[in-house]
Amino acid sequence: MDAQDLPWVAHWERILQPQPWNLAQLQEELQQTGWCCIAHTQHTQAIGYAIARRLYDELHLLALGTCHNWQRQGVARQLLHGLLQHARNTPTASLLLEVRASNRPALTLYQDMGFQFLYTRKSYYTLPSGSEDAFVLQRELSHATPV
Ligand SMILES: CC(C)(COP(=O)(O)OP(=O)(O)OC[C@H]1O[C@@H](n2cnc3c(N)ncnc32)[C@H](O)[C@@H]1OP(=O)(O)O)[C@@H](O)C(=O)NCCC(=O)NCCS
Repeated sequence: MDAQDLPWVAHWERILQPQPWNLAQLQEELQQTGWCCIAHTQHTQAIGYAIARRLYDELHLLALGTCHNWQRQGVARQLLHGLLQHARNTPTASLLLEVRASNRPALTLYQDMGFQFLYTRKSYYTLPSGSEDAFVLQRELSHATPV
């Protein structure tokens, strides 16, 4: 993926997330260094996305989503594998992310993929329904461990 795909990502963020990344925020972030944006495609059509940014030796997952009709078919798992593979090819110690405390599908996915709970950020998300805590999760990357 590159900058041309960001309107598509922003569109799906609005559909999938209660506190979505908007296009301006995505474009602003993309001007920083260390970006990695990947899409999962089916017959050239994008059906899922992952966006991460490097900060020193850490890759930080900013957005992950699978279009509704394609959920529960292994798309997000493959996107995370892609990011972990990318991280492996560069000097990266860990992949870090925040997830809403009530986001059961995502928490199950991350737990399944070996992410460990680090700590809670209280009231991290501002949602129409009020605030919500974020769990900060980390997957350490050792070159000896398969992705
Ligand atoms: C979370 C999300 C990205 C998962 O995408 P997906 O492509 O459907 O996930 P996968 O098919 O790769 O699922 C892999 C594993 O995650 C877990 N999982 C995924 N969706 C789940 C659900 N709805 N309920 C329970 N577990 C779920 C399961 O362990 C699953 O493995 P299994 O299907 O073999 O049981 C998707 O639901 C989504 O886009 N949600 C809205 C955006 C979001 O919350 N993003 C995460 C931001 S932190």
